[in-house]
Amino acid sequence: MELLKVSNLNVVFDTPDGVVTAVKNLSFSVAAGQTLGIVGESGSGKSQTAFAIMGLLASNGRVSGSVQFAGQELVGMSPQQLNKIRAEQIAMIFQDPMTSLNPYLKVGEQLMEVLTHHKGMDKAAARIHSIRMLEAVKMPEASKRMSMYPHEFSGGMRQRVMIAMALLCDPKLLIADEPTTALDVTVQAQIMTLLDELKSEFDTAIMLITHDLGVVAGVCDAVMVMYAGQTMEYGTTEEIFYQPSHPYTGGLLESVPRLDTQSETLATIAGNPPNLLHLPTGCPFQERCSLTQAVCSKTMPELIQFANSRQRACHAAIEKVGVL
Ligand SMILES: Nc1ncnc2c1ncn2[C@@H]1O[C@H](COP(=O)(O)OP(=O)(O)OP(=O)(O)O)[C@@H](O)[C@H]1O
Ligand SMILES: [Mg+2]
Repeated sequence: MELLKVSNLNVVFDTPDGVVTAVKNLSFSVAAGQTLGIVGESGSGKSQTAFAIMGLLASNGRVSGSVQFAGQELVGMSPQQLNKIRAEQIAMIFQDPMTSLNPYLKVGEQLMEVLTHHKGMDKAAARIHSIRMLEAVKMPEASKRMSMYPHEFSGGMRQRVMIAMALLCDPKLLIADEPTTALDVTVQAQIMTLLDELKSEFDTAIMLITHDLGVVAGVCDAVMVMYAGQTMEYGTTEEIFYQPSHPYTGGLLESVPRLDTQSETLATIAGNPPNLLHLPTGCPFQERCSLTQAVCSKTMPELIQFANSRQRACHAAIEKVGVL
């Protein structure tokens, strides 16, 4: 069953220079218990998609389209109702836990507050539950850590606290926006393994946002590749990794560091993303694409659904896309 169904989502921002189109006609869904990776370069609209779902856009942002969560429409919902859903059913974790943790409060107090405030638990029960959750995220000496302040934790440990806090209310959906970019590679891998273990233990659907395709390989069931606020390609992790069918996905894959090649320099996709104030007519990737044809500057390719789960928006014949 689809837990989250986003249809024709648009996010625009009014700025002094004009209207910025951050997300354009985006549709995707996440099933209960599924992990969807959302991947794309900086500025491709990943975070704004998450903020639009949560109803947390900046004040100059406007959203249109539909976001159905567990059968309820979130777009246009009153702030009170949205607050309740955010507190009880959708949790979000960010790249830098210091922005979400209060530096002046002990970690234990912050965890317990979630439970006393939203779940109506008394302090003793909240304490027991908080310690149990810290243990679930593999925090060593969990009960001792309850009385420590956020700055006394390492970056990886702080991220574990954030995950524990996000899971305390037993959310149906966890949105993780670049949860590991601030961490070193070993700790990144530990956090990803942890998320993977927790999703089955808590049966939580996860939307994992990252600019690094390498990160999604081990944990995601499906991957959506975004460019200039639109879906370029969607498929199972296997489809995306082993048979990418969009030149942009191919370019992203080539820029993933690999252990089996000794290449000195990492390939990057030449050129820059388009100006979101003036999106070109046709495909936004046309200027950087190696397979551009005349049609690409005239019409945006439709997002075509294939017989398997793959979707793709590209004019190039599928056989032509190099990596296939
Ligand atoms: N309040 C705002 N006003 C104007 N433009 C905005 C605003 N917030 C975001 N944008 C623009 O929307 C676009 C998409 O931003 P978004 O934060 O979704 O990117 P992202 O894919 O998450 O990138 P990153 O990987 O760097 O986090 C960017 O070009 C950004 O500058
Ligand atoms: Mg972002």
